[in-house]
Amino acid sequence: MTRPMVEIRELRKTYDTGESKVTPLEGVSLDVAEGEFLALMGPSGSGKTTLLNIIAGIDSATAGTVVVNGTDIRGLSDAKLARWRTRNVGYIFQMFNLLPVLTALENVELPLNLLPVGAGRRRRQAEMALTAVGLADRLKHYPRQLSGGQQQRVAIARAIVTDPRIIVADEPTGNLDAKSEAEVLDILSQLNRRFGKTVIMVTHDPHSASVARRVIHLDKGILHDTQQPAPAGKEAP
Ligand SMILES: Nc1ncnc2c1ncn2[C@@H]1O[C@H](COP(=O)(O)OP(=O)(O)O)[C@@H](O)[C@H]1O
Ligand SMILES: [Mg+2]
Repeated sequence: MTRPMVEIRELRKTYDTGESKVTPLEGVSLDVAEGEFLALMGPSGSGKTTLLNIIAGIDSATAGTVVVNGTDIRGLSDAKLARWRTRNVGYIFQMFNLLPVLTALENVELPLNLLPVGAGRRRRQAEMALTAVGLADRLKHYPRQLSGGQQQRVAIARAIVTDPRIIVADEPTGNLDAKSEAEVLDILSQLNRRFGKTVIMVTHDPHSASVARRVIHLDKGILHDTQQPAPAGKEAP
């Protein structure tokens, strides 16, 4: 039996801006087992980012149950949630979200600053993560000196540097050319298959979704689940 990594029950999310209320998620339930690679699809505005942010503990649910890696994260204080997030979840954004004034190495070291890790180990772990994404020769480069695909690989290194069990990615290939897209999808597949990371990836693109083993469609707050055939020979073309 594989352990559940995400258990969501009757999730509701309402944004209340004062003038208007928006409820992108209503009655959403979702189970993701440890080691799954899940693609989350759906039209713009259907609540994909909201759901991902709630799983990652970046945003909070209005009602319902959210258990991730065995922790009921709705019950955590802000400080505990921040620490939990650093250890448990790696987040990859569409726009990379690297700090422009820091080198690749310094960007990747950032999450480790929130943990009791000394400078030497911080440096070694960040170097290892950048090596894992094929950027051992770009440690001292600034984001502006890297291509989009390389910047996204730095962002992946930053997401895995704390060795989280779960990786969430919000349209990680949305800003990349076809070659960089294939590289990023390949790295996510490797993290899933070789290192057993649970990956949840939001994407618009059916081609990107095809690397996942399960695809979920979110439409008007309702989830539709599709099991894909095993991704045999799914190496990037
Ligand atoms: N911080 C926010 N405040 C108010 N409304 C929001 C906020 N974030 C998202 N929304 C609204 O929630 C809905 C879902 O947004 P989102 O999760 O970003 O959709 P998707 O990622 O599928 O495009 C949209 O209608 C959006 O306008
Ligand atoms: Mg979105």
